[in-house]
Amino acid sequence: MADDLSLQSPEPLTATRPHAPLTGKIRVPGDKSISHRALMLGALAVGRTEISGLLEGEDVLAAAAAINALGAHAEPVGDGRWTVDGVGIAGLAEPEDLLDLGNSGTAARLLLGILATHPITAFVTGDASLRRRPMGRVVEPLSRIGARFVTREGARLPLAINGAANPVPISYRLPVPSAQVKSAVLFAGLNALGTTTVIEPQPTRDHSERMLRHFGATVVTEPVEGGGKRITLEGCPELAAAPIVVPGDPSSAAFPLIAALIVPGSEIIIEGVGVNPLRTGLFECLREMGADLALLKERDEGGEPVADLRVRSGTLKGADIPAERAPRMIDEYPILAVAAACARGRTVMRGLAELRVKESDRLTAIAAGLAACGVRVAVDGDTLTVEGDGGPPEGGALIATQLDHRIAMAFLVLGLATRLPVCIDDAAPIATSFPGFLRLINGLGGAIGKAA
Ligand code: S3P
Repeated sequence: MADDLSLQSPEPLTATRPHAPLTGKIRVPGDKSISHRALMLGALAVGRTEISGLLEGEDVLAAAAAINALGAHAEPVGDGRWTVDGVGIAGLAEPEDLLDLGNSGTAARLLLGILATHPITAFVTGDASLRRRPMGRVVEPLSRIGARFVTREGARLPLAINGAANPVPISYRLPVPSAQVKSAVLFAGLNALGTTTVIEPQPTRDHSERMLRHFGATVVTEPVEGGGKRITLEGCPELAAAPIVVPGDPSSAAFPLIAALIVPGSEIIIEGVGVNPLRTGLFECLREMGADLALLKERDEGGEPVADLRVRSGTLKGADIPAERAPRMIDEYPILAVAAACARGRTVMRGLAELRVKESDRLTAIAAGLAACGVRVAVDGDTLTVEGDGGPPEGGALIATQLDHRIAMAFLVLGLATRLPVCIDDAAPIATSFPGFLRLINGLGGAIGKAA
């Protein structure tokens, strides 16, 4: 956030109802998931990969620093363009020091996948949020491939990994729908002779599969009974450097999008947003809630579908959001809950167990924050229910963001619609995924500023 207001951490901020509607045409920063994968697969390819639109947020910068510490070479060449000089599969070198992945679960888990089949030792850590998150979900399959780990209690970071010298390809059925775990296993399989298979009971984002193919790997995806997928990767391909165009992150676009829906009279366009069908569960929910949202100029850019989003404010109604949709919108529940608080009627969001192990326990953070803003909300197991009366919620609360960028942004957006301002205790984590958030929202006519 330093580029926004030059504030120090912690950075309390306040959002107030603006006097006029939000209007304008914007772009959001590059997709975080695709940016991580571009750096990591670029590091494993032979030759120079050119990336445009890379997210220059703290999470991705931590991933870039890690691959540089492992002997690849990633550097910015201006204007959101980066180059990565890869070392080829199995070419990474032992790092001299700890690898610190900051707040990023994706960077930590994907990188552990890569390290699992390099015969080197590395020590991996992160910030207080990441050190609380479970790593057992990758430690378990990567151990089967032959990696060895020493972890803290509960398979938490910091951990030490000793990669396999003779990796064994595995067939692994995901116990939780997680693109991070799927990708960690596939990335490990790159250096295992034979076929690595991942079976996912519910489809999750497929950026790894798409990008592996783009770099020349053989990856086959087939449907399995019950709606899931089987993904097979042929080990030891030669990955060839290839240009990558990173689309705007739909998970970041979600914040100005909902802001425009709930600030009366607003109309905005968000250009160049990734609309991969495994990321667009939120759009389906919003349509069911009666939102005026259109995808314009749908096109393909660098192997990913992209569109411009046009959104106009309007009355929203409650909806019942099925559990099966969760993997396709897992990062969007904080901001969907904000939309639900401004809608008329009951919104029920089911199947949210994974929200408990994100950057914070998001299920608890959403419910506590909305309740503090006077919204009727209930958590029952892994179901979240929000009741809106169609008018602006009360607001007037201070929200604890718990090192969670999406909780911070969601409640600032809520404060654009509530009767009383909403304050958050720390905006600094927003820089992990959405540098320029504040400038962008205020540029549309939003009213977010330093807390008094
Ligand atoms: C991500 C996958 C999701 C998501 C995270 C990014 C990825 O996590 O929450 O922000 O890039 O693969 P899980 O796959 O663990 O649900």
